[in-house]
Amino acid sequence: MKFFIDTANLDQIREAQALGILDGVTTNPSLMAKEGITGQKNILKHYVDICNIVEGDVSAEVISTDFEGMIKEGEALAALHPQIVVKIPMIKDGVKACKYFSEKGIKTNVTLIFSAGQALLAAKAGATYMSPFIGRLDDISTDGLNLISEIRLIYDNYGFDTQILAASVRHTMHIMDCAKIGADVMTGPLSAIEGLLKHPLTDIGLAKFLADYNEGN
Ligand code: E4P
Repeated sequence: MKFFIDTANLDQIREAQALGILDGVTTNPSLMAKEGITGQKNILKHYVDICNIVEGDVSAEVISTDFEGMIKEGEALAALHPQIVVKIPMIKDGVKACKYFSEKGIKTNVTLIFSAGQALLAAKAGATYMSPFIGRLDDISTDGLNLISEIRLIYDNYGFDTQILAASVRHTMHIMDCAKIGADVMTGPLSAIEGLLKHPLTDIGLAKFLADYNEGN
């Protein structure tokens, strides 16, 4: 399972990279705004800064909602750095743009996926990744993990290469549940990733080992 971090915060990206377990980064316009990154020039520079920290794929989202606009923007994003993956919304023109980019060999991440039907379309359009938002479904009393299971079944039935990128991951158990279901990738906050480290018996055991060592030395 690949681990992506879902942030535009360079310190957190550096911290996750230093752990040695990071496979990529996802961003979106809201995450950029949260870091105070505004204006096209600054946003493009920020993507390059992120690419220079991590070794894996970095999703950069288009703002246009029409086919021509998405193609123009996506091509400019892809030209920024070889690690850039063009993130496209799951709308009609987005599906067309996804097909266009996949035929050109440009990596894509179809975002804002909330149903198995949308996931099927993204795969048919040749998406590299497709992002079901599990936390946002949970927020409205709908089982986000069930969506991941449905998509896994459909993709396995037909051998689609599109990778299931579980997004809107909010906490550590989401990561574990996605891993059990077989999501190819998860993207989440650093706190959810670091939650995997924690177990009280590890802390108690380590304290005891160190105390015993100190007693004998
Ligand atoms: C995914 O690519 C999105 O950036 C993200 O996971 C959305 O998460 P949120 O629902 O916590 O905003």
